[in-house]
Amino acid sequence: MSKFSLEFEDVSFSYHHGEKAILEGLSFLVNEGEFVSIIGPSGSGKSTIFKLITGLEDHSGGKIAINGEVYGNRLGHVGYMPQQDLLMPWRTVLENAALPLEIQGATKTDARERVVKLLDQFGLKGVENKYPSDLSGGMKQRISFLRTVLSGSNVLLLDEPFSALDAITRLAMQEWLLDQWEKWKLSILFITHDVDEALFLSDRIFIFTEQPVRKFVEVTVPLGRPRGIRDIHSPEVLQVKEELIEQLRSKVKL
Ligand SMILES: Nc1ncnc2c1ncn2[C@@H]1O[C@H](COP(=O)(O)OP(=O)(O)OP(=O)(O)O)[C@@H](O)[C@H]1O
Ligand SMILES: [Mg+2]
Repeated sequence: MSKFSLEFEDVSFSYHHGEKAILEGLSFLVNEGEFVSIIGPSGSGKSTIFKLITGLEDHSGGKIAINGEVYGNRLGHVGYMPQQDLLMPWRTVLENAALPLEIQGATKTDARERVVKLLDQFGLKGVENKYPSDLSGGMKQRISFLRTVLSGSNVLLLDEPFSALDAITRLAMQEWLLDQWEKWKLSILFITHDVDEALFLSDRIFIFTEQPVRKFVEVTVPLGRPRGIRDIHSPEVLQVKEELIEQLRSKVKL
């Protein structure tokens, strides 16, 4: 098994042939078990990178490898939680969560049994027969996350999963995510607009600084694990935060 969960080598992409490129010769690596955040202005291409990793869009040059393998069809090889939650309103919590297993060929009964065993850990016990419209934002995020984990991949792509949550729920979800990350030994690529969120969660942060993207500016978060939310107020982290904000500010055009 590769010690890299994800490799981009010289990857280029534009949505339409001849149009302005979003990525141009971008290379980066994500180590096994690493938590990496991606931060950058709106419209800079963050979600596009996830669409390339999942194979929903095709890159025009270069190589994308997952756990050291280049796949023709990558969708089943990563867990992907898109920017908008894709819960189906007509399916219950249980039915929504069981969907990836059914797609992988499990029978309805087997799929549901596996989901039921996990409901407690995901804080969803007792709501399994409710519909998404009856749940709070945090609960919906946890179902989406449960569904993403059930993809069975060690590589998870989370696109602004907590952006719609209030500050307190958000902190609880961040702490919960770090627990899950450790428990499942995941490699996570996490898109966010929130600098504090990126600092609290990540080993490294990739910053979009140009268009098209040729390389990321990269920041290593100077914190060990386990960490608490107060740790992001340490002088070392505050210094990194200022650099990050400076980098981002210089890229925002009004
Ligand atoms: N399907 C598409 N067809 C054509 N252009 C697209 C498509 N999807 C996105 N784009 C364009 O590609 C660029 C990057 O979009 P992307 O969604 O990756 O940005 P983002 O960094 O995720 O932004 P945000 O922070 O707002 O989510 C934008 O200019 C967007 O308009
Ligand atoms: Mg996006």
